[in-house]
Amino acid sequence: MNKKDTANALISVKREPVVEKATAFAPVNFALAKYWGKRDEELMLPVTSSFSVAIDAGTTTTLCQAHDCDIVELNGKRVEKSSSFYVRLIAFLDLFRPSPSFFFSVSTINTIPTAAGLASSASGFAALVLSLNTFFGWNLSQKNLSILARLGSGSASRSIYPGFVLWNKGERKDGMDSFSEPFDHWWDELRFGIYVVSKEKKYIDSRSAMQRTVTTSPLYAFWPEIVDNDISHIQKAIKQKEFSLFGTTIEQNALAMHATMFTTEPPVCYWKEETLSTIQRIWKARGEGLGVFFTMDAGPNIKMLFLEEQEKDVCRLFPDLSLLPLLA
Ligand code: PMV
Repeated sequence: MNKKDTANALISVKREPVVEKATAFAPVNFALAKYWGKRDEELMLPVTSSFSVAIDAGTTTTLCQAHDCDIVELNGKRVEKSSSFYVRLIAFLDLFRPSPSFFFSVSTINTIPTAAGLASSASGFAALVLSLNTFFGWNLSQKNLSILARLGSGSASRSIYPGFVLWNKGERKDGMDSFSEPFDHWWDELRFGIYVVSKEKKYIDSRSAMQRTVTTSPLYAFWPEIVDNDISHIQKAIKQKEFSLFGTTIEQNALAMHATMFTTEPPVCYWKEETLSTIQRIWKARGEGLGVFFTMDAGPNIKMLFLEEQEKDVCRLFPDLSLLPLLA
């Protein structure tokens, strides 16, 4: 089974566009219990479920038909055919192209502040799938849209929704039960900020790092059980608004993920010196009573979570923190 089979199974009739132009927005999400490791590289099926929250920034994509070649624009600028962004996007569009002589014009606008150093592939593929759905009049359910977005980038399956989102790992080989769904609870007082340590391009992409972890880390055997437990603790903490359970769990989950990377062969370490010193400052502040916890993804930057009542104190201690509103 490959990506094309999944696309064909979900979109049974071959269709032509039903509108001239389609535009859609999808938010960035960041994981509170991480997706780290695939059980199927082609279909982007994860070893574990994962759980995320959306922020109020992301990608807006506009799609229409082009005349004689594919055209891709990013933030108003034409993207080179040789760039990895172009190649990845076109490979994805090929899954849905009605005929080889049908060309797309895709305009992508990222509303993520570039200073935030957040990746946009999740919101990018989710916005693309949402705009394709309108463009071709597929009328797919959100569940099926999240399956299609997953084929672009695993974590994109979670960017179909605002709020807290659970991506079910699924058991099936064809991946039809590996989709995301909203977790119907919200936490108004929760605040999020990102502390940028470095904006440099990652020295190893998450896909390769994940693969190396699954195949070489002796700690990876423990990871599936850790994530399962963490997801239930996080969900309980959200329902009961238990911030210290919430914070402890998301922080341990991120550290456990990085521990699996440190123990790969050769080791993967995204941390910079300032990553560690910032973490130590967070721990020190917490020891002195400040309710601030962190999570990290495949990079050196630190995402802090705290409650509204602590916002002033957290910002005083970390004046360079960029606050980003969450999206309910
Ligand atoms: O979907 P990808 O290939 O961008 O991988 C995302 C991996 C993490 O951001 C580290 C974790 C996650 O669940 O988003």
